[in-house]
Parts: sequence; C-alpha cells; structure tokens
Amino acid sequence: MSELPNISFSKPSAPKKGVAVVFVDDTLALGSAASELDAATDGAITRAMKVADFKGASMASLDIVAPAGVKVDRIVVMGMGKTAELVEYDWLRLGGAAMGAVSAAKADHASFHLERADGEAVTAEQATDVALGAKLRGYSFDKYKTLKKDEEKPKTKAAKISICVETHGAADDLWKTQEAVADGAILARDLVNEPANVLGTEEFAQKAKELEKLGVEVEILGQKEMAKLGMNALLGVARGSVRPPKLAIMHWKGGKAKAQPIAFVGKGVVFDSGGISIKPGAGMEEMKGDMGGAAAVTGLMHALAGRKAKVNAIGVIGLVENMPDADAQRPGDIVTAMSGRTIEVINTDAEGRLVLADALWYTQDRFKPAFMINLATLTGAIIIALGNQHAGLFSNNDDLSARLTEAGLATGEKLWRMPIGPEYEKLIEAKFADIKNTGGRPAGSITAAQFLQHFVNDVPWAHLDVAGTAMGSPETEISKGWASGFGVRLLDRLVRDHYEG
Ligand code: BES
Ligand code: MN
Ligand code: ZN
Repeated sequence: MSELPNISFSKPSAPKKGVAVVFVDDTLALGSAASELDAATDGAITRAMKVADFKGASMASLDIVAPAGVKVDRIVVMGMGKTAELVEYDWLRLGGAAMGAVSAAKADHASFHLERADGEAVTAEQATDVALGAKLRGYSFDKYKTLKKDEEKPKTKAAKISICVETHGAADDLWKTQEAVADGAILARDLVNEPANVLGTEEFAQKAKELEKLGVEVEILGQKEMAKLGMNALLGVARGSVRPPKLAIMHWKGGKAKAQPIAFVGKGVVFDSGGISIKPGAGMEEMKGDMGGAAAVTGLMHALAGRKAKVNAIGVIGLVENMPDADAQRPGDIVTAMSGRTIEVINTDAEGRLVLADALWYTQDRFKPAFMINLATLTGAIIIALGNQHAGLFSNNDDLSARLTEAGLATGEKLWRMPIGPEYEKLIEAKFADIKNTGGRPAGSITAAQFLQHFVNDVPWAHLDVAGTAMGSPETEISKGWASGFGVRLLDRLVRDHYEG
C-alpha cells in the first residue's frame, strides 16, 4: 500500500525543497512565503496567475514547474476563494487538493504555506483540518495491485509534509487529536475495501479486538452466546454461511464512571449475496462493502479512544455473511427476535434489518444508553432517493436529528432527514407473524427504518442509511472514491460538540 503522508507543523519560513504550496485568496494578494518566492523568481507567480487567468477561486490551482531562482522543484498556487467564508470542511478540501498536487508531482517533500493575505492568522483548527484533508487524500487501497507499472505506482515512501503556519504550536497539539480521527476514517476505509475472502466475520471481529491496544474493552459473542440471548433474527441470516456469526462489543470508558453511555451500532454483513433470494450477478462484487456501517462504528471507536475522548461510548457490530446454502434461511421462515417479536422473512436479501433488530435490542437492553445511532448500508432505495451525496437520516428524536444534521454540514458527511411514522406500519404487517422484513417497492428505505424502530424500545435513536455514501462514494478532494470512511468524522464531531466533559 502506498504510505500515508507524514505531517508536521512548523513556523512560517522560506520554502526549501520539493513542492511549495502557497495559498492565495480571491484578492490575489500574496502572503509572505509567496511574496518571497515571487521576488526570487522574478515574478513567476504573478506572471503565471495573469497568464492562466487565475482568480484565486476556492480549490482552483496553478502548477509552476522548476522555477528558476529558487531551490523548490515546483510552486503550487492554491486558491482559497473568500477566506472568511470557508467552513470547516472547506479547509479539509484545501488540504486534500494540495495533497493531490503533491502526489501528482510524486514529491517526497512538500511545504504548505498557510497564510491569509488579510492579516488574520490561520487558526490551529484550520491548519489541522488542512492536515486531515491531506492525510485522507493520501490514502489509496492498492495493496493487491502487484502488476501496476512502476510509473503508475504511488510512491511507497511516505511524503513529508510540513505545514508552515503561525499557530504551529497549538496545531501540533491539536493534531494528536485530529490524527486519531484520520486514522479512524482510514481504518473504516480499509475494512470496507478488503474483499470478503480476506475479511470474514472472524477477521473483522479480530480487527475490533485490536482496539484493545488503545484501551477499548472488547467482547466478542459467538453463535452459542447469541443463541442463549435469543438473537434468532441475526442468527437466521448467518445460517447459510460457513463463517460463524459474531457480535463485537467495544466499550470506551473515557467519561465519568457513572455517566450514561452513548451507543453506536453497525450492520456488518461481510458479504451480501442476498441468500436464497439471491441477487443478480451484475455488481454483486460491491456487496463486500455491506459492512460499511460496522466499519464506521469500529473506526469511530478507534478515533474516540485514540484521542481519549471524555465520553463513555459503546460500539456494537453484528457480523454475519449472507449466503445461499442447503441450511440457509428461506423466504417464509419465521424467526423470534431477542425482543420477543416474531418476524416473517419475506426476502432473505432484506437481511441487514434482521441483524440490526437483535443488535439494537441488545444494546438498549444491556447498556441503557442516552441515545443509539445505527449505521447501515441498508437499502438500494436510499441511493435512488438521495444518490451518493447524502446519507438518509431516520429518527424518533428531533434534537438528535438536528445535532446530526449540523455535524453533517460541518464535516461534509451530509445527512438528509427522511420520514418514519405509523402510517407506514401497514406496509410491514405480516400475514403469519408480528411483522415482515420487507414492505415492497414503495418507500423501501422508510419501511426498513420503520422495521428497525420496532427494536429500539423508547431510546432516542437515529438510523443512518449509508448504502450510497459508505461505499460506491464519489471521488472528492479528500477521497479517491468508493470506500469513504463515511460516518467516522461525522459522529466524532457529534460527540465532540455535545457529549464530552
Ligand atoms: N445490502 C443491501 C443494500 C444495498 C444495496 C447496499 C446497494 C449498498 C448498495 C441490502 O441488504 C439489500 O439487499 N436490500 C434490498 C432490500 C429489499 C430486498 C427489500 C434492496 O435494497 O434491494
Ligand atoms: Mn441484502
Ligand atoms: Zn445487505
């Protein structure tokens, strides 16, 4: 795998080698590093901006190769637009775009000269957001590409990036925190990208177990323990696979001993063939990513523990594989969930909600959390509704929804609230049991959420349908696409803003 960049912060100074990235707003006024370079190169920056009709628009960039008169190999001019209008996510995008220029140049060294021409200092938060964006952009999943031509290969040596900024001391401290979040998002991406032959249920549980080295307490329940608890909805899904079902419970105790915990629950279907209601062949390979919810929960726990968040947080992930087999669950089967409700399985491909039914019930029953948020690549219908740009948000609580929506706007991991309500109940009424696991084509994402609500009791709860955002996600400044790590930054932000201390 290509190595992620090594990022450090230092005081503003003259660029010495590699790529110098200078940031310029839409006034085109040059900061001190840019001015120095411009003077030493006989006005190369000023001239390039003029020739290219560069207006300093946000994310627009100019690449000046081998400028005479200075030691650097390249000068990249990165547009910031109107600096005062940049929100948190824009700083990440700037860092990502700058990192893109460094990678394209295959440079070992780069310096980012973060200055504002209006005299305001770039804050430590903004500087570490740039670093976070750069680190995330540096990620690629190419460990299985043994035949890639040398010249196509990303550098295997990690690029050294020095961010030169007035607030470097504070940024240095803050980066210890922010880097944990980057690592959490990268862990989530790795989990989603790994194929199912490599990352089965046991291997995933092992990944969760490895969080113990960060101080997370981890329990793994197996088939026997879950059978004893009555988790027949989850266990029914796992029947067709030779991979044993696992429930991983991650417990980060960073808050006061008696403080009520908050809980995150993830769908972890390591591969979703559809089971007996088997999926069509086209695109089925993407279903290795059907554990994107569980990956986000694991990545989040990594982030919270890594930055020693002052909160008690529980992560619960249901790990199964959905396969057809002589012993697989059938359409028409009726299972009794841990809650005591009976479920008629109409379609074995609506398996995520069966896994979550027991994982959610177990979580509220055992931990009595202040809230539960589950993440799941639950329905194709959410992609029809929202595309890959927003995740669907379903909730029984307006305050929690508002906080989540706000965290989404700040982090760029955006949510769009969708309805649930008693009028949808009729669609999941079963002929032979309490409820059925599908409601037909209309409102497919809503009936899935409505189904989940049966298993949350009266706990404040939100369900994030991340089928279009955790996997199959578009390329952005901070992601090369497909596995995005969606949910880690979002939920870290939610915790940071409202549930610590
Ligand atoms: N894992 C899928 C949903 C999915 C689809 C995730 C596309 C990512 C991309 C889920 O288990 C599923 O198969 N859902 C069915 C539900 C249907 C049978 C009611 C769907 O969306 O078609
Ligand atoms: Mn399915
Ligand atoms: Zn699925």
